[in-house]
Order: sequence, then structure tokens, then C-alpha cells
Amino acid sequence: MSTEVIRLAVIIGSVREGRFGPTVTEWFVSEAEPREDITVDVIDLADVPLSLAGPVREPSAEMAEALDRVSPRIDRADAFVVVTPEYNHSFPAALKNAIDWHLTQWRAKPVGFVSYGGFSGGLRAIEQLRLVFGELHAVTVRDCVSFHGGAAAFDDNGRPNDVAGSDAAAKTLLDQLAWWALALKEARTKRPYAS
Ligand SMILES: Cc1cc2nc3c(=O)[nH]c(=O)nc-3n(C[C@H](O)[C@H](O)[C@H](O)COP(=O)(O)O)c2cc1C
Repeated sequence: MSTEVIRLAVIIGSVREGRFGPTVTEWFVSEAEPREDITVDVIDLADVPLSLAGPVREPSAEMAEALDRVSPRIDRADAFVVVTPEYNHSFPAALKNAIDWHLTQWRAKPVGFVSYGGFSGGLRAIEQLRLVFGELHAVTVRDCVSFHGGAAAFDDNGRPNDVAGSDAAAKTLLDQLAWWALALKEARTKRPYAS
């Protein structure tokens, strides 16, 4: 039996200069890409500056161009992993802005989280994001990957210090996401989601 492949969009939630997000993302993608049941599309929000004044019914030409680059990819995805730091016990404003610009694309799809930060490892950002994605009819998966201490949890090669623990956490998250992604994709195909 052939493996059904799900399309996973990995979203880099921090956009500031000198951010650590890409390092965490690169590691996570290196865990996901070898799997036969997943293809990965990395969406870097730093590449799609969306106006904080949006969303609007008629976006400017600049916003329309930015949306053209990102919205179809969110729409196409069967599942999401949001890579988020913790800012003031929550998630970055740029991440919330990108979520707010998209109303329907998350519906009846699973969302998983990879977080990093100081003492709490970004867990407070994750718990708040669960509320946001619930409002958007998405399903957040229980298990997550969380790095306490942020950059200090990684070595100079951008690999987690705790290789075994991190790999196991990534596998659990990806297994859960793949299950939900397939289950919800089959359900959406059979019956349009009643939102
Ligand atoms: C504006 C701001 C607020 C932060 N607030 C928290 C916080 O409340 N809790 C925490 O554990 N870390 C906090 N941090 C530390 C970040 O989570 C940590 O530096 C992380 O690596 C930032 O991600 P980035 O480099 O990808 O932007 C904060 C960092 C910034 C820039």
C-alpha cells in the first residue's frame, strides 16, 4: 500500500533581526523532511510583511502581492507547525497578524507547535495560540516540542543539546499531526466542513 503524503506548512513566527527562529525551524524541518508521509513547505513570515492595519476587504497592491505569495500555501497545506518564541508571556505580534489575515485557510486542519524561550520554553505562547486557532476552527495537537533556555538549548551547529529527547518529541508531534492531517483531509473530502 502506498503512503499517503500530507503537505505540512512550517511557519516561522518570529521576524525580528537576529532572531533565533530559523535555527529552530531548520532543525525541525530536518526531522520532518526524511519522512515518507510528509512534504514540507517553510513559510517565513519575515518574507511576507503584512500590514498591521489589516485584514481589509480590498488590500493595497503591495499587500495583495504579499498575500499572493503566502495565502495559497496556507490554503494548500493539510497541516501546520508553528515555530514560536515567547514574547512577554505570549506569541509574537507578527505571527498573530499573519494568522488574522487568513480566516478560512486553517479550518478543519491540525496545528502543532515548536516553541522556545526562557524559563518556560515558550509554553505560554503555545497555550495562547491554542485559543486563537480554536477560534479559527483548527485542531491543535496535544504534544509539542519545547526548548527551555532558547539558544542555550542548541549547540554551535544549530542542533539541540538533548538530541535524543528532541528527536523523540519531534517524532511524537509529527506522528500526531500526520494522523490528524489524514483523518481531517479524508473527512473534508467526504463532507465539506460545516463552519
Ligand atoms: C520582546 C521580547 C519579549 C520576551 N519575553 C519573554 C518572556 O516573556 N518569556 C520568556 O521566556 N522569554 C521571553 N523573551 C525571550 C525570547 O523568547 C527568546 O529571546 C527567543 O529566542 C526569541 O526568539 P527570536 O530570537 O526568534 O525572536 C522575550 C524576547 C523578546 C524579544
